[in-house]
Amino acid sequence: MATLAQRFMTNPVFSAVYEGLWRPAFTRLFSLGGPGTAEFDKALTAYLARSGDRTILDVACGPGLYTRRLAANLTSDGRCVGIDFSGAMLAQAVSKPLARTSYVRGDAHHLPFRDGAFDTVACFAALYLIPDPLPVVDELVRVTRPGGEIAIFTSVTTPVSQLPGVETIGKLAGFHFFGRHEITDRLRAAGVTRMEHTIVDQGQFVLATKDQS
Ligand SMILES: C[S@@+](CC[C@H](N)C(=O)[O-])C[C@H]1O[C@@H](n2cnc3c(N)ncnc32)[C@H](O)[C@@H]1O
Repeated sequence: MATLAQRFMTNPVFSAVYEGLWRPAFTRLFSLGGPGTAEFDKALTAYLARSGDRTILDVACGPGLYTRRLAANLTSDGRCVGIDFSGAMLAQAVSKPLARTSYVRGDAHHLPFRDGAFDTVACFAALYLIPDPLPVVDELVRVTRPGGEIAIFTSVTTPVSQLPGVETIGKLAGFHFFGRHEITDRLRAAGVTRMEHTIVDQGQFVLATKDQS
């Protein structure tokens, strides 16, 4: 059965207000305790969006806010693909077309791409809504080329998430708080040894490089 969060993500009205209202409000929630999340997010996105002839995949792209940012400086044969399982979110994404950007409807558990297809694979603000998220981490690694990078932004257990009631409300809504090493341990098990792991305010960022062999 779909969680409350999944029902929201596939709702056309919610999808229409996601980018302008919900995402900024949610980023502010993640920033409880400091301005760090928004600042780190900006710096990481700017790094990932460096110019070049690269292939980028944005997993669980929603209405394409980050897909467009990641694609903005691509050159030549560079391509950015956003994938999401919500038709309503993708309808928003394709309403703002951008050169070198395309969208696919699909499930993050079974990415419809060959092994090593992308130079950069991003998954922002989505793993915590996916009921079975760790196999998705394996998929992010699988479709990244050896030497390529994987960027993740997601939740983490903090003193705020452990306040009475917060976890229960999260569970009811279909929101998961990851243990501090859950994501990095899974990446390591999938064959990634080089990682920068940063916990900022209520969120965590991982920038990992897939091993060459
Ligand atoms: C909170 S939005 C994040 C969108 C975007 N990455 C961002 O940072 O603004 C989460 C997205 O994950 C998508 N999603 C959830 N489970 C998914 C799955 N199993 N496969 C593909 N997309 C999924 C939802 O449809 C939704 O668009």
